[in-house]
Amino acid sequence: DSLVIGVDVGGTKVAAGLVDRSGSVLASTRRDTPDRTTTPDVVEDIMVDAVAELLDEAAGRAVLGVGVGAAGFVSGDLATVVFAPHLSWRDEPLRDRLTARLGIPVVVDNDANAAAWAEHRFGAARGEDRLLMVTLGTGIGGALVLDGRVERGRHGLAGEFGHMQVVPDGQLCECGNRGCWEQYASGKAMQRVARELLVADSPYAAGLARFCGGDPARVEGRHVTEAARAGDQAAQDMVRDIARWLGVGLANLAAALDPGTIVVGGGVSEAGDLLLVPTREAFARQLTGRGHRPVPLILPAHLGTRAGLVGAADLLRIEVGQGG
Ligand code: BGC
Ligand code: NA
Ligand code: ZN
Repeated sequence: DSLVIGVDVGGTKVAAGLVDRSGSVLASTRRDTPDRTTTPDVVEDIMVDAVAELLDEAAGRAVLGVGVGAAGFVSGDLATVVFAPHLSWRDEPLRDRLTARLGIPVVVDNDANAAAWAEHRFGAARGEDRLLMVTLGTGIGGALVLDGRVERGRHGLAGEFGHMQVVPDGQLCECGNRGCWEQYASGKAMQRVARELLVADSPYAAGLARFCGGDPARVEGRHVTEAARAGDQAAQDMVRDIARWLGVGLANLAAALDPGTIVVGGGVSEAGDLLLVPTREAFARQLTGRGHRPVPLILPAHLGTRAGLVGAADLLRIEVGQGG
């Protein structure tokens, strides 16, 4: 049976895996994403390197191509990353550049679209034909699967929920606007708050400090999730704050889109029920018409942080006519 390589390029890490027809990951590898001030070819080199490693792992089994989920705005023809707030790509013809370098078919989609596709095909939302997904990583990715396909909008750019304004004149976002949702409910948001606490040398942050070696410059969102899971009070408070923003934002999306199921993925979702329970509470409190309408399920991504690469691989399979 043939395999496909899926690559998920996020703001913090590049994850790649060798994926079979049923969505199982047979081998995987990861690299750090270079700083977004580096030139686009540096990210590309890392992707090519990860793919080469997995081609070796395939040990002679046929590899149909590479599906890429990229943390940015991808054109409707799945060829170009037109803009990426957390990466250096601007009008980057990523599909053709990678095809030329790798010599096998490549398809590119938005990372959250890919993740939603995987959850729809193999994960938490099988059989759901009105699926809303958010991925909480460096930013917030968003996607809508309607009637068995990803809704891409007129130009491929639908689902950029992370850049909806939730706070007028709020935190400056990498996209250039202020007050975007992803500045309040993502890994970046947790990192910012954690850093402020550590810089202030608050005793409240003592537990958290142990998870990042005490250096505010080195604290990452994942340290907060880890500390929260280990029972640290400050970290759990931060996760609850994120959950409130998340629940309210999801209620706004539900007001607009009336999904049947909402799936929450990305690194921050590894906080599990610490995140999801207060998210469901905030959602239920904010949902318009509550008490008079069905409340959609809010579920964790079954494929976890691998959803993006699994979905991207499946999209490639479909592109080359070997899907389903
Ligand atoms: C980008 C999206 C991406 C998301 C998650 C956002 O900042 O605009 O395209 O899906 O981050 O990586
Ligand atoms: Na999207
Ligand atoms: Zn923004």
